[in-house]
Amino acid sequence: MVGDLREFVEKAKELGECRTIEGAHWDVEIGRIAELSLSVPESPLLIFDKVEGYPQGFRVATNPFTSSRRVALGLGLPLDLKGLDLIRAWKEKLSAVKPIPPVYVKTGPIKENVQLGKDIDVLKFPTPKWHEHDGGRYIGTGCMVIQKDPDSGWVNVGAYRSQIVNKNTVALHVVPGHHGAIIAKKYWDRGLSCPTAIVCGQGPLLWVSAMSSVPIGIGELDWTGGLRNRAVEVVRGETVDLPIPADAEIVLEGEMPPPEVESADEGPFGEWEGYYAGHRSPHPVVKLSAIMHRNDPIQFGVPMLIGTHDDNGFQTVDYSAQLWAGFDKQIAGVMGVSFVPQARRKPMVVVSLKQMYPGHVKQAALIAASIYGGATHIGKFIIVVDDDIDPTNMTEVLWALGTRCDPASQMDFLSNRTSQASDPRINPDKRKIRDFTCSSVLIDACKPWAWRDQFPKSTKTSPEVMAQVRKKWGDILFS
Ligand SMILES: Cc1cc2nc3c(=O)[nH]c(=O)nc-3n(C[C@H](O)[C@H](O)[C@H](O)COP(=O)(O)O)c2cc1C
Repeated sequence: MVGDLREFVEKAKELGECRTIEGAHWDVEIGRIAELSLSVPESPLLIFDKVEGYPQGFRVATNPFTSSRRVALGLGLPLDLKGLDLIRAWKEKLSAVKPIPPVYVKTGPIKENVQLGKDIDVLKFPTPKWHEHDGGRYIGTGCMVIQKDPDSGWVNVGAYRSQIVNKNTVALHVVPGHHGAIIAKKYWDRGLSCPTAIVCGQGPLLWVSAMSSVPIGIGELDWTGGLRNRAVEVVRGETVDLPIPADAEIVLEGEMPPPEVESADEGPFGEWEGYYAGHRSPHPVVKLSAIMHRNDPIQFGVPMLIGTHDDNGFQTVDYSAQLWAGFDKQIAGVMGVSFVPQARRKPMVVVSLKQMYPGHVKQAALIAASIYGGATHIGKFIIVVDDDIDPTNMTEVLWALGTRCDPASQMDFLSNRTSQASDPRINPDKRKIRDFTCSSVLIDACKPWAWRDQFPKSTKTSPEVMAQVRKKWGDILFS
């Protein structure tokens, strides 16, 4: 199983799935090259070196999970798994996780370079301005932000973006309701600053834990330990009492003062939906008290680019597996779950269901719309299909939608559901009063339960028979 980011890069090279690009400019060029790379499916990991104005070795890694083999590599799963098989394998792993607390070690590679006081300069890294109209350079995109709950000592890790304000200040964008916002407020309510560490380069399992819906109260470092079956080794921060992965690439340490004491304008940023929907506005800042980095550090960039092909298979697999695992605790009959990358994942999910009783489809749709890890945030299109449909295969899903769904009787709408400022469909009036809500549609694209036996037979050959045909004729067709 892959450990730190360097090992992941090396393994990607061994697979022939890594390209190094020299001489690109941090000002939009890196972002555009990464976007261009997404114009083909299964595209490589990109390493930018000798970035204009920066020394060789100060690198930026992007498009880490744009092939199914690298998704499997990062998750520690067999490399030949794809589609629903990959999601199923990750679900099984998630369901078996027993968190293992991190262990402190005296030192680690992250301490190879330490800047304190006047020496702090976050601009020493070749941080990209990713999209043309971004409000600045974002050092934290594929990052993990570490904070400790002042009451319970629970250490949370979340992926929250950070924009460089000046050499010792970054602005942090934490969506209300996310654990980082809840923890910071506890400090601010007491008139205190919130100790914070931002890791800008870490191994894939730490990253998936940071961006994933790990249940409240469970530390993502413990979760990662459980996923690896080995505790994460951490060092204490130089200036904050927080556990920091010893093999991280770059770490920014500091404190977040209450926003009324200090804040800075943040954004706009090319959001994950593919628009600059949020406006530039005051955000909390982290005042840096230390920067640590490895020799020849690799900054990890996940700017959520809109390319022709998938920009982040990691999220699809993780979100889908989380929801599927949630279903397993609720009802029988769910044969597969997949968020839809082309619709930017959270806004559209497909559930494949073996119908067992009247109302089963509606129940599945409502569960997908409401349970933790489900389509709760900007979850606009919740589609249930029969179990002969592979929810990761859009051709099959659209076939079901086009042929089994009567819109007037098989769609239900929900209103006042959770959305957020990055949603481009929040109209200007709602945006003005910060009414970040949206509607959802539950789509039943299944054969109607009551007359399922009379539903015309499909012309599609069964998977069992097709396996025999493939065995006999596959070589001639596909070799
Ligand atoms: C690439 C990427 C960028 C993200 N950026 C942000 C962000 O800027 N702010 C935020 O609140 N959530 C962001 N998220 C989502 C959170 O990381 C995710 O919801 C996570 O579960 C939050 O952790 P928490 O539940 O511990 O708060 C991002 C996710 C990804 C994959």
